[in-house]
Amino acid sequence: MCGIVGYIGNQEAQPILLDGLRRLEYRGYDSAGIAVMQQQKISVRKCAGRIDKLQQLTDASPLHGSIGIGHTRWATHGEPTDLNAHPHTDVKGDIAIVHNGIIENHAALRRHLEAQGCVFVSQTDTEVVAHLIHTLYRGDMMAALQQAIRMLSGSYALAVLCESEPDVLYCVRLGSPLVVGVGQGEMFLASDIPAILPHTRDVLILEDREIAVLKRGSIEVFDDLGARKTPAPLHVSWDAAAAEKGGFAHFMLKEIFEQPDAVRKTLSAYCGPDGLQEMLPGAPDLVNFIACGTAYHAGMAGAYYFAQLADTESAAHIASEYRYRKLFPHANEAVVAISQSGETADTLAALRQAMEMGAHTAALTNTLGSTLDRTVSRSLLTYAGPEIAVASTKAYITQVETLLLMAMDLGLRKGKLTRERAKELLDGLAKLPEKMESLLKNQAYLQQYCDRHMHEKLMFFIGRGMDHSLAMEAALKFKEISYLPCEAYAAGELKHGPIALINNGTPVIAICTQESLLEKTLSNLRETKARGAETICVCPQRFAERAAREADIVWTVPDADELLLPLLVMLPMQLLAYHMAVAQGRDVDKPRNLAKSVTVE
Ligand code: G6P
Repeated sequence: MCGIVGYIGNQEAQPILLDGLRRLEYRGYDSAGIAVMQQQKISVRKCAGRIDKLQQLTDASPLHGSIGIGHTRWATHGEPTDLNAHPHTDVKGDIAIVHNGIIENHAALRRHLEAQGCVFVSQTDTEVVAHLIHTLYRGDMMAALQQAIRMLSGSYALAVLCESEPDVLYCVRLGSPLVVGVGQGEMFLASDIPAILPHTRDVLILEDREIAVLKRGSIEVFDDLGARKTPAPLHVSWDAAAAEKGGFAHFMLKEIFEQPDAVRKTLSAYCGPDGLQEMLPGAPDLVNFIACGTAYHAGMAGAYYFAQLADTESAAHIASEYRYRKLFPHANEAVVAISQSGETADTLAALRQAMEMGAHTAALTNTLGSTLDRTVSRSLLTYAGPEIAVASTKAYITQVETLLLMAMDLGLRKGKLTRERAKELLDGLAKLPEKMESLLKNQAYLQQYCDRHMHEKLMFFIGRGMDHSLAMEAALKFKEISYLPCEAYAAGELKHGPIALINNGTPVIAICTQESLLEKTLSNLRETKARGAETICVCPQRFAERAAREADIVWTVPDADELLLPLLVMLPMQLLAYHMAVAQGRDVDKPRNLAKSVTVE
């Protein structure tokens, strides 16, 4: 979703802004633009389409100056056109802004500003902010911004350039993330940390309603009433290379290959020589997970682990549904929000609901310093490193792993899990990265399958229990990057409707990791075969013989403890989606219409 960059220093701003925008491309966008202060005058270049197109514009007509702002837009109000692209300016063009988020009262403000003579040129909600600031500006941008944010409702991260104050870059946020990179005699602004990593690892994360005043050698932060604040910068351990492709054709492929390492790091973060850390505070007897997309599927796996290992009632909820649901307070409930980015608007809103209800809350996120990380008192991190591809892979795997560890910790503390069983699982987990590595070595069979099946019209993924959550995640990967219609179903539910969709040759992939459900799922697979489906079973080596009796094709993963198999079987599923998308010539890392970080409802 939209991305913001900004620069103030002594270097040429244009290449730094364009490079920053490229690093934010993964968030998803459909137009882009920059504004640079050129000899005390603001100049804008912007266009619909990719950053390469913007680069052509700036190559043909470069902007020279050492202060600037840039933006990638993911259209919400108005189509992706040149005029709707950011930056937006006021009537005179002496104030330029970029904005992430949604101004909910934009229509009323627009009427009010039009009545005062402002002429609008775009359909965006953002343009009202440029005109509003202009009408409020009386020679002091701090004062104008303080007034403006009292009049805006919705969410925003804003960066502002003003010709009357040509050596200052202003920014403010509410609900949408904004980070400042602190350099030597220069400051960098971005929507997220990877965009500024090549320049500095010292970052300052702005809080809601904070206004930051960036000058070349200083940063001052004020609250919305003008009181000075002194936030401490955070030192980020990720290095810039972690957010580069490093020889892989796509970020997604690189991230799939980083999974063994991510699993190792996450395990060692929570399990030291003295055993498992206490992860969830207290001993809740009801655990609810709230999340969106892939993180929701991780939550489904987590609910299964909590039931199995901690004997604790647990369920996963789609955050956008949970937030509007009637909630019933429970004396000893924990609500855990799961989010790779830690910025997903629906997840944050659902978390606030849970907090208001009085539940104990915790977070599981990949992003240190994200809004989610800072909202809860107990934040657990996944150690996947920066995830750039829109389709989540390594973040998901480490979420599932951490949820397994959380369930084990609770199970041990509640006396529901024996030390011996916990040791067995931890030993198995320690061996898992090697098995993942061996699995990743051979992917030719998946590539060949995709080359043969690239013209499929529909695919099915089925499974029971834990495997149903894996089937849903596998299907989501397919939809996201190959755009192939996929159904993910609880295997036993197929006969109640979706089986009608099966045609001659429709691929049906059954995920089977649980011994007790194997025969049941295989018999559902047989039912689809009887109706013409081409059936595939994905299972551990030890089920191969039984699976081969029913399925046309069997893809195996190395044997492992049943509860660890989800971390293995997802690898061929991710690779399958990847190769299908490549075979179809899709934009794997930046699929159409999708955004990595969804900061609007
Ligand atoms: C978007 C992304 C998905 C992601 C979901 C939740 O829809 O495209 O890949 O799973 O948001 O994101 P989060 O950062 O909260 O995990």
